[in-house]
Amino acid sequence: MKKLNSTFPIALSLIWALTSCNGNNEDKKQDTGSPDTIKAGISRTDWGEFDGKKVYLFRLTNTKGSEVKISNYGGTVTSFVTGDRAGGKSDIIIGFDSLNNYLRKPPYFGALIGRYGNRIGNARFKLDGKEYKLAANDGKNTLHGGLKGFDKVVWDATVMNDSLPSLTLNYVSKDGEEGYPGNLKGTVQYTLTEDNELKIEYNAETDKATPVNLTNHSYFNLTGDVNNTILNHTLMIDADNYTPVDGTLIPSGEIKTVKGTPFDFITAKAIGKDFDSVKGGYDHNWVLNSKGGSLQKVAVLSDSLSGRSLEVYTTEPGLQFYTGNFLDGKFNNHDGKPINLHTALCLETQHFPDSPNKPGFPSTILKPGEKYHSETVYKVVVN
Ligand code: GLA
Repeated sequence: MKKLNSTFPIALSLIWALTSCNGNNEDKKQDTGSPDTIKAGISRTDWGEFDGKKVYLFRLTNTKGSEVKISNYGGTVTSFVTGDRAGGKSDIIIGFDSLNNYLRKPPYFGALIGRYGNRIGNARFKLDGKEYKLAANDGKNTLHGGLKGFDKVVWDATVMNDSLPSLTLNYVSKDGEEGYPGNLKGTVQYTLTEDNELKIEYNAETDKATPVNLTNHSYFNLTGDVNNTILNHTLMIDADNYTPVDGTLIPSGEIKTVKGTPFDFITAKAIGKDFDSVKGGYDHNWVLNSKGGSLQKVAVLSDSLSGRSLEVYTTEPGLQFYTGNFLDGKFNNHDGKPINLHTALCLETQHFPDSPNKPGFPSTILKPGEKYHSETVYKVVVN
């Protein structure tokens, strides 16, 4: 991987112009001017500013007609347009076309999640004998990095001189940010391949031991239309076990078999099949048979209407399958249609929730000198 040489005018144009503006970002003008082509397969549009930093929307395209849009605000994937069986195209990811909508704090649509994806119980953990207190932003627990997680910050963006369209995002989370120890340097690279894969690579380093659990919170509806429920999609998850939770969605620490329970997705089944026996809907962590470490196929989501399937590959040991149980029609999708209950779902690759307080779970502690590395691929296949 090579960075674009700085003599390229286009690379110069990628150096952020810092502005002195601050104040109410909601009132900022949204510049949705015409896109600048950066190189084949990647263009960039000004999208406004936040926290005094320029926000852009990048468009990655492949020669198969697929397109992914990503903003450096929250590292958010705002759109993933792919073909269907009938030769049409639609957007299979929930998202918006303007920054202002993201500033209304939607439930993490498409965003990068960090420093810790999912919940940490009682918003605290102990590490090396010291207790760290986090923001309780989900009842008494902390969720998705706290009040201002990695989904609500502006990342520095660089376009790499790779053969495939690829965007690299960098963010330095300061020691003490949201209560977490250590300066954490995070890098996330998004790539769109010729096989209609959205590939996400996460890297991080720290100068003090800290929990790290990075993921992406894209919501999918493979029909491309949020008027269709996702309960008719079929799903396979290659996991014999899951982590049961309490009433606040914190794991008990047990690892239980899915056999004979509604959590059994070993053989693909309609999501709606056993749905009524899961109070509140699915919002659980599956313990993947792949165990993490190497990139393996762990789940396949399919929709018979469009003929699309989404294959999920990851190096992570866990998968949070969430059926959009808190979607309430408050936000409208790209096409203006309300995003209602169970009209989109998430397949968040991750380490298990509350691992810092669960000695029996795979460790999420990153130490100085170690390198955090994780990969996930969302591949769209049309049958
Ligand atoms: C994750 C959680 C859910 C919910 C969503 C965001 O999937 O597990 O409980 O908080 O994020 O709304």
